[in-house]
Amino acid sequence: MSNPSLLILPGDGIGQEVMAEVRRVIDWFGAKRDLAFDVSEDLVGGAAYDAHGTPLHDDTMAKAQEVDAVLLGAVGGPKYDDLDFSVKPERGLLRLRKEMDLFANLRPAQCFDALADFSSLKKDIVAGLDIMIVRELTSGVYFGEPRGIHTEDNMRVGVNTQRYTEAEIERGARAAFDLAMKRDKKLCSMEKANVMESGILWRDVVTEVSKDYPEVELSHMYADNGAMQLVRAPKQFDVIYTDNLFGDILSDCAAMLTGSLGMLPSASLGAPMANGRPKAMYEPVHGSAPDIAGQGKANPIACILSFAMALRYSFDEGADATRLETAIEKVLADGVRTGDLLGDADTTPVSTSGMTDAILAALDASL
Ligand code: IPM
Ligand code: MG
Repeated sequence: MSNPSLLILPGDGIGQEVMAEVRRVIDWFGAKRDLAFDVSEDLVGGAAYDAHGTPLHDDTMAKAQEVDAVLLGAVGGPKYDDLDFSVKPERGLLRLRKEMDLFANLRPAQCFDALADFSSLKKDIVAGLDIMIVRELTSGVYFGEPRGIHTEDNMRVGVNTQRYTEAEIERGARAAFDLAMKRDKKLCSMEKANVMESGILWRDVVTEVSKDYPEVELSHMYADNGAMQLVRAPKQFDVIYTDNLFGDILSDCAAMLTGSLGMLPSASLGAPMANGRPKAMYEPVHGSAPDIAGQGKANPIACILSFAMALRYSFDEGADATRLETAIEKVLADGVRTGDLLGDADTTPVSTSGMTDAILAALDASL
């Protein structure tokens, strides 16, 4: 049987540096755990624009459809700020999500014990935090039609449409309930049913789906209250299910609870392929961080944890995913820190590759 295939799209900025570290981790699993992958690499975002004049070449899109999983770094940078909207780096990412139909975006926010002091919130509010945001990723206002900028009575008007079908709400809800069943069996659905019809439908459909999951305790919250509760008492949540735009915002908020955006991975999952594996793309939640790109300072953990999610959700290697997560926990407990994790501490930061050295050593020690 051939090895499972991975398409690596480092993208822009620190995406390239952190992905180079992920490749070292992938190689480790091939050499030491007999988990070999066929890895190919291609361009996305600004890097693809520079080479091809488009943020995602059709050939790359076709490859992404064929592989078992895509690993993406980050896209964007100031160099591309003035590009036409249709070829901006972000369009490459959005096209991958849309055409692969990756409707369920899993964004865990976990607070590592060693970093609890580092959150902008008080330690007891975040210590032990472990929540999972499931963000609908292929619909809503990100993709709804009509959209655009037109002129009415000599005045420019910008239009985007929040649109959800029942089926779209339902399939994401099922993914969220399935996850809740494997966790603490609590699901909070967030929308704005007080002002949006799409929110009323959202609440209705989620309630309907909950009948198939009698063990899961379902609650509903307006998304603005959800944002407030996330910073007030985040540990009340287990799984949160929300739409594309609210999920974008709430997941950044949840991410910061853990102390650093540089820590958080994500998985975007679609329908099962012929081999039973879900269509999947894994990426760190952080962006391309142009301010520190190319300096060897970036924290590779979010991207490495994204590979751990790939092991768990695409390749059914949950034990090795845990092995990798545990190695990272150990390294943090030992005080190894990239610059973003320093705070006021009087420690010397390690470089991007120095962090990976430590993680690989901890993996070796786990054998
Ligand atoms: C994210 C990002 C993207 C989004 C951007 C880069 C298009 O913020 O993945 O959260 O808005 O979805
Ligand atoms: Mg975002």
